[in-house]
Amino acid sequence: MDGINKRFDPRRIGLKRLYASPKLEEYSRRETASPDMQQIYGPLGFPAVPDDRPYIVGCFVSSLDGGIVFRNSHDGSQIAKANAADPAGGDSDFWMLNALRASCDCIVLGANTLRVQPKMNGAVSVPDLLDARIASGKPEMPLQVVPASGKDDFPADHQLFHSGTPVVIASGSRGIDRLSRRVQGTCVDAQNLQGASATQGVTLLSCGEKQLDIPLLHRWLRCAGADQMLVESPGYFTSLLQQDLADELFLTWSSLFTGSGVPGITSGTFSLRDHPSAEVLSVHIHEPGFVFLRYRCGLISPAYI
Ligand SMILES: NC(=O)c1ccc[n+]([C@@H]2O[C@H](COP(=O)([O-])OP(=O)(O)OC[C@H]3O[C@@H](n4cnc5c(N)ncnc54)[C@H](OP(=O)(O)O)[C@@H]3O)[C@@H](O)[C@H]2O)c1
Repeated sequence: MDGINKRFDPRRIGLKRLYASPKLEEYSRRETASPDMQQIYGPLGFPAVPDDRPYIVGCFVSSLDGGIVFRNSHDGSQIAKANAADPAGGDSDFWMLNALRASCDCIVLGANTLRVQPKMNGAVSVPDLLDARIASGKPEMPLQVVPASGKDDFPADHQLFHSGTPVVIASGSRGIDRLSRRVQGTCVDAQNLQGASATQGVTLLSCGEKQLDIPLLHRWLRCAGADQMLVESPGYFTSLLQQDLADELFLTWSSLFTGSGVPGITSGTFSLRDHPSAEVLSVHIHEPGFVFLRYRCGLISPAYI
């Protein structure tokens, strides 16, 4: 999403709720509720925040055959925008992403996404959601978090790192050594949990040694005040599934096909015996082109234990 401010008519983009799990009745933490939210989506609540990490939610839009980009366009939002049969549903998807952005304290953006989307940032671009966010006491911009392995092709020139927006680039200590030569920022060791804070500019956060220590990053972010995390990086979401660290997935199915050979929401593969799974929490529809699914992640299929 490239920072377009959009106002929407709730009647045009409103979703019909087809199913809600009884579990949602216990999800009473409401981070941000704009005046239009009830009409567009209904209640959007979350469970209590864990003590040692933020509550973690992923959000993606997929084609019917599982693609998150087209072969000839690497902008993921086109999966919703290109659904010509239901342009209003494409706007519903944009609104949904913004509702989750408005309710989160930090957003994980992937380095590959930044490589192909030069204007990408995690701003809340729907005015009434932004107003509700600010009224709830949150800063205008969620903290942007970019995990990295420390490769030489890190997108250091991306405008996100030169805009003054609070950004945390997180990597193992070796990765941070390399990245600090390319990106200007304050180097911080994530072991120092008492001093956890990132309110301005770029923080180069050293978490672990060779590889990014994800649980340590999450502990540090929680100490820095992040109760709710939104993951927009497919690569990072895969890492979370591998470590059983994702709480929820909001997945929009756009009724079009991308064909094979394009990325999906996960990279790599899982095995028959050892695969993450999920449970449906709710189903909404925007007729005729979009289905909005909310899942609770991390259930293990009992048949294979
Ligand atoms: N349809 C949608 O909903 C949607 C949403 C978002 C993005 N997209 C599209 O998806 C494509 C990018 O997806 P992607 O999966 O290739 O990449 P990505 O998630 O944007 O970025 C992956 C990169 O992030 C870093 N990273 C992620 N997890 C890490 C970890 N645990 N430790 C260290 N570094 C980690 C690595 O960077 P290094 O390079 O430093 O190793 C990795 O290569 C883009 O075309 C984008 O437009 C679609």
